[in-house]
This record gives sequence, C-alpha cells and structure tokens, in this order.
Amino acid sequence: MAIRTIPLLLLTLTISYLSPKSSSLKPEEDKQTLLQIKNFSWGNPPSLQSWQDDNHNNNKSSTTTHYKWTGIHCSSDGFITNISLPNQNIYGPFRDSLCNLTNLIHIDLYNNSISGQFPVSLYKCSKLQYLELAHNLLVGVIPSDINRMSTSLTYLSLSANNFTGEIHGTIGALNLANIDIAINLLLGPIPQGFGKLKNLNGLAMFYNNFSSEIPASIGLLPLLTNIRLFRNASPGVAARVGKALKAWNFEVGENRISTRYRWSLRRGGFDIGCSCL
Ligand SMILES: *[C@@H]1O[C@H](CO)[C@@H](O)[C@H](O)[C@H]1NC(C)=O
Ligand SMILES: *[C@@H]1O[C@H](CO)[C@@H](O)[C@H](O)[C@H]1NC(C)=O
Ligand SMILES: *[C@@H]1O[C@H](CO)[C@@H](O)[C@H](O)[C@H]1NC(C)=O
Ligand SMILES: *[C@@H]1O[C@H](CO)[C@@H](O)[C@H](O)[C@H]1NC(C)=O
Ligand SMILES: *[C@@H]1O[C@H](CO)[C@@H](O)[C@H](O)[C@H]1NC(C)=O
Ligand SMILES: *[C@@H]1O[C@H](CO)[C@@H](O)[C@H](O)[C@H]1NC(C)=O
Ligand SMILES: *[C@@H]1O[C@H](CO)[C@@H](O)[C@H](O)[C@H]1NC(C)=O
Repeated sequence: MAIRTIPLLLLTLTISYLSPKSSSLKPEEDKQTLLQIKNFSWGNPPSLQSWQDDNHNNNKSSTTTHYKWTGIHCSSDGFITNISLPNQNIYGPFRDSLCNLTNLIHIDLYNNSISGQFPVSLYKCSKLQYLELAHNLLVGVIPSDINRMSTSLTYLSLSANNFTGEIHGTIGALNLANIDIAINLLLGPIPQGFGKLKNLNGLAMFYNNFSSEIPASIGLLPLLTNIRLFRNASPGVAARVGKALKAWNFEVGENRISTRYRWSLRRGGFDIGCSCL
C-alpha cells in the first residue's frame, strides 16, 4: 500500500507543478483581476470602496487584504471563492476575466445592472456551484451549450432579465437542484431534457410564454417539490404529471390549463391558484 502511494504522490506533485498557467496561481493575481473589473467594467461604484490595493505599503500581509473586501470570501490559502454583491448598483457588461478567478464557487450579482448576452465566459468557472444573476439587464438567448457550465453547478437563477427565445434541453445535462428562469421573454416548449435533472428540487418558470405541456418526465423527478409555472401560455398539463408529482408547491395558475386538468390537479391537492406572488 505504502509503496504504491509514494510514486502516486510524486506523480501528483509533478503534474500539479507542470500544469499550465491558465489557472490563477497566486492570490495576488486574483486580487488584481478583481480590481481591474471594479475599475474598468463596473464603473468603480462607491459601494466597493473597500476594494483597495495596499501593495504600495510593501505590507507583507497585503495579499490577504481582499479577505476584508465587501462581498468577497476567500479560501484559507487566499484564493477568492465567493463573490456576493447583491443590490450594489454595479453596471456594465459581465467581465469575462471574472472566471480567471478559477476557484470561484459562488457568484451572486442579484439586482444590479449587468448588461449584454448570457456570459459564456462563465464556462471557465469550472468549480462554480451557485450562480445568481436575477434582476439584471441581460438579453438574448440562453445558449444551447449551457451544459458547458461547471458540473458542480446546483443553483442557477436568471430570472427577471430579458432573455428571449427557446430554452434548450441540454440544460438537463447539468446537476442542478434549482432553476429559476421566471420573468423573462422565453417561449416555446418546456424541454423534455428537464426530466434528466435527477436532483432538481425547485423549478420556477413563471411570467414567460412557454407553450407546451409539462413533459411527463418532469413529473417523475424524485426530489422536485416546488414548481412555479403560472402566467405562461401553456395550453395544458400532462395528466401524468398530476399523478406522479409529489410536489407540495405546484403553482401553475393563470396558464391556459383545461378545466379537466384543473379539476384533477385540485383533486390531487395541488394549488393552482395564484396566491404565489
Ligand atoms: C484572464 O486570462 C486570460 C487568459 O486565460 C488572459 O489573457 C487575461 O489577460 C486574463 N485577465 C486578467 C485581468 O488577468
Ligand atoms: C483602481 O482605482 C483605484 C482608485 O479608485 C486605484 O487606486 C487603483 O490603482 C486602480 N487599480 C487598477 C488595477 O486599475
Ligand atoms: C498591514 O496590513 C494589515 C492587514 O490589512 C493591517 O492590519 C496592518 O495594520 C498593516 N500594517 C502596516 C504597517 O501598514
Ligand atoms: C434593487 O436594489 C435597489 C438598491 O440598489 C433597491 O432599491 C431595490 O429595491 C432592489 N430591487 C430588488 C428587486 O431587490
Ligand atoms: C460560499 O459559497 C458556497 C456555495 O454557494 C456556500 O455554500 C457558502 O456558504 C459560501 N460561503 C460564504 C462565506 O458565503
Ligand atoms: C426588457 O423588456 C422590456 C419589456 O419588453 C423593455 O421595456 C426593456 O427596455 C427591456 N430591457 C432591456 C435591458 O432590454
Ligand atoms: C406568446 O405566445 C402566443 C401563442 O403561443 C403568441 O401569440 C404571443 O405573441 C406570444 N407572446 C410573446 C410576447 O412572445
């Protein structure tokens, strides 16, 4: 056992030593990347005044000063892991270099004015678990290759932007537990692919213009307890969904659901009213 372990350890060390410089290697690089984003993309907002570079002091502990920056959380070795900046009046495009911070697991930019298309540079954030971009100014389609996001991603919120077009079933290849794409300009069918999200717990799609039935595969998802679909153009809900679904919170009110399905959902104890906002 021990004889095997040692060469393996050496190999691992060698590989990490030789690995390319594409990832952020030093906490100092993480810090400079953030400072550039703040200054040149986010309009240097007053709320981020605590983001300062103290290096000119030649203060040895200065590489750790970003531990104390507003909204920033670092790992014990100084890499930035969490960015939590809701309601900060940040405006401008999503800066592609954000994912140069390769240790990021959590991005929360809720309720700012981030503009432009869905930032595909997020595919580089390979450890990302949590992405909150609700209430921003994003437009265009949610890209069909969104499955290139981190396989660790469990929480995806894109609600209250202006995303348009259809949503692709490829999203089903991710390991999401929560999807919130409510309050956008999305339309077309609800993809079958959602039925592959075995860990899905919450699905919010209300205030869009989705038009198909809810695929029966979604009704079979074992952990799904919270579906919010009201105010869409859906003409009906697959009868099997009503039977299979264990959802305690199943809100589909104000879609164009046929009377027959409304009745069977009510009988199954589902609230299809719109006491949900
Ligand atoms: C981010 O990384 C890319 C290469 O992956 C590099 O070209 C760019 O200069 C980096 N940006 C910053 C701000 O470090
Ligand atoms: C960002 O702007 C601050 C002043 O607000 C300045 O001290 C700092 O050097 C700038 N940093 C970068 C990376 O441009
Ligand atoms: C060096 O930086 C640390 C952390 O920000 C701070 O507590 C300390 O007062 C600084 N020392 C000097 C001499 O500036
Ligand atoms: C967004 O943030 C602003 C302050 O920046 C606040 O006034 C507003 O209520 C927030 N809106 C939401 C939907 O949270
Ligand atoms: C950092 O993000 C992770 C993943 O979303 C979360 O579980 C953790 O609580 C966050 N830590 C802090 C200090 O915000
Ligand atoms: C989003 O759509 C609304 C209504 O269609 C429109 O008034 C608004 O200007 C749009 N915003 C952006 C950033 O495209
Ligand atoms: C919503 O869908 C209906 C029919 O499915 C269509 O007539 C209507 O134009 C759509 N509205 C938007 C805003 O796309």
